[in-house]
Amino acid sequence: MLGKKMLGELNGQVNKEMYSAYLYMAMSAHSEYVGLKGFANWFMVQYKEEMEHAMRIYHYINNHGEQVKLMAIEEPPMVFESPLDMFEKTLVHEQFITKSINDLVDTAIEEKDHATKIFLEWFVTEQIEEESNDNDIITRLKLIGDNGNGLLMLDRELGTRVFVPQLTSGGQT
Ligand code: FEO
Repeated sequence: MLGKKMLGELNGQVNKEMYSAYLYMAMSAHSEYVGLKGFANWFMVQYKEEMEHAMRIYHYINNHGEQVKLMAIEEPPMVFESPLDMFEKTLVHEQFITKSINDLVDTAIEEKDHATKIFLEWFVTEQIEEESNDNDIITRLKLIGDNGNGLLMLDRELGTRVFVPQLTSGGQT
């Protein structure tokens, strides 16, 4: 059974993960538009991962016999100054998501909701990886600076990222 506050926050997290997906889809579209197909691929994989994050919570709420409440998804930005700008904005957004996940864990602890606390542990670990990936790419983009060849090499590398589905259609891992 989910408490009212816990349920409200989980529903809110579904919306935040959907916005994350939307944001990275916007970054993918922008990358494609400016000719950086590898960056476009990287952000499209990220979009798919975020959709899975939303669906993990969606199924978790369903499995508790509750109804998911879907809310409006905010419009993401359309223009970005540079690849570095996109990844700096990605990092800031992921730090926001990390705080949100930590707040959910706090609520689970307050409500002595052990099941939800265990469920959220996957997200806590995932956020470490997400921030680390962003920091790594930001460092490399700063090293590259204005070097076009360096940027194209990174673009080629980001083009090799592959989406690996982790959830079945029923939400099982
Ligand atoms: Fe679902 Fe990027 O956090």
